[in-house]
Amino acid sequence: MARLLVTGGKRLVGEVPINGAKNSVLALMVTAALGQGESVIDNVPYDRDVATMSTILKELGVRVAFEPPHRLRIDGSQLNRSTAPYEPVRQMRASFYVAGLLLARLGKAEVPLPGGCQLGSRPVDFHLRGFEALGAKVQIEHGFMKAEAPRLRGTSIFINRSSVGTTVNLMLAASLADGVTVLENAAKEPEIVDQAILLNQMGARVRGAGTDVIRIEGVPQLHPAEHTAIPDRIEAGTYMMAAAITGGRIVLEDVEWEHFRTPVVKLQEAGVRIERVGPTQVLVESPVNLSRDVRLRPVDVETAPYPGFPTDLQQPLVALLTLADGTSVVRETIFDRFRYVDELRRMGADVRVERDTAVVRGVRRLTGAPVEAMDLRAGAALVIAALAAEGQTRISGVELIDRGYEHIEAKLNALGADVVRVDDEGAPASATPPASLASAQSEPSMSTNTSLPAPNPSQA
Ligand code: EPZ
Repeated sequence: MARLLVTGGKRLVGEVPINGAKNSVLALMVTAALGQGESVIDNVPYDRDVATMSTILKELGVRVAFEPPHRLRIDGSQLNRSTAPYEPVRQMRASFYVAGLLLARLGKAEVPLPGGCQLGSRPVDFHLRGFEALGAKVQIEHGFMKAEAPRLRGTSIFINRSSVGTTVNLMLAASLADGVTVLENAAKEPEIVDQAILLNQMGARVRGAGTDVIRIEGVPQLHPAEHTAIPDRIEAGTYMMAAAITGGRIVLEDVEWEHFRTPVVKLQEAGVRIERVGPTQVLVESPVNLSRDVRLRPVDVETAPYPGFPTDLQQPLVALLTLADGTSVVRETIFDRFRYVDELRRMGADVRVERDTAVVRGVRRLTGAPVEAMDLRAGAALVIAALAAEGQTRISGVELIDRGYEHIEAKLNALGADVVRVDDEGAPASATPPASLASAQSEPSMSTNTSLPAPNPSQA
């Protein structure tokens, strides 16, 4: 298992390119597989979750080929297996999207239920109720969801609670159903809009994505299309916080300002200057200077579905607030996502958690310590804390960080950080994603050998 050694205290300065959105690409990959023929997705990040989805789709008979630096070709015309492989699906919750794909295309789906994970219990009951409403017979047997529906029929579905995954899955299923499906209380995340754009380019009839009512008129078949994924608003937010904690001045490149307004407002409230400086560029400038005791102001934040403060930036924000000048209160309303604070405490943070709320008392300094990334965003939070800590922090569980951040140490080092990846023995190592993707470069398009990095345990 690799580790990151982060020597703190370096101010981040420069430009950082932001990748395509991992969570959007996972939905886009499955959407592309709905089509008959080869679709192209651009702006695909080289991360482990994309690799896991690629493995699962190939097992179902979908052809997936990666073309460096950031393009995927996906052809669903040979999709022929209705049972999804157990291991990779258990590893990544988004793989449950293949349930919607299989029901829509083959009228039958056997997909392992994603288990509990580091974010607490994450049921799929809304997905299952939605499939049933569309006319599928759904049963749970031996850890699998078994669903069958020779024809799905459009209907109105009220989703109990705004859910990204349920909205993605039901849009997939409804696109090839007979008649009209109306999803009420649908998720409004930019990733949903991105999926709807690809679907419509493939010949689907989806209206209202980005609002809480989405209307999908089923069509008999979808054709291939080309699409560029939206920028990753969570990666962008993570680098904002990394710059903020180090008193840095960075420009985020290739971002969509409209997608992260709430995090921007919160960071501005804390005293960070954030401005749009070009159509896809955002400047982040932080006044922090720990040696002169210039610190950020505390802020109170509650996570919420889009356009609220994203749960995926809760951990990075808490890391940032550990060094603020006062007490912040952060309430997590989406997941059980505070276990990582024990690791921040090892670094000297003062964080008290009661149920869904963390009370973060800002301290004057953090100190480097051996810590462990428990999930993707918790890992990002530890990296942020480590960038400002005195001395060296050793972060294990880096594979989890690789699930959603491409080239994290290379990007940070290009901004002036001191981050080294080492292997078990402490020898310098390079990130797995770029290495294994490089080997895919020479392979012919659509080769079944074309590989992304190996899938990785634990869920996001
Ligand atoms: C997506 O997860 C993201 N994953 C998560 O990002 C993100 O944290 C989350 O949305 C919220 O924004 C991907 O897009 C691949 P939900 P998802 O369904 O779809 C409850 C990351 O770090 N619920 O919107 O699984 C659920 O427990 C990851 O990149 C049910 O009760 O989240 C949660 O409380 C982690 N039953 C709430 O709804 C269901 O059937 C919202 O979850 C479905 C959800």
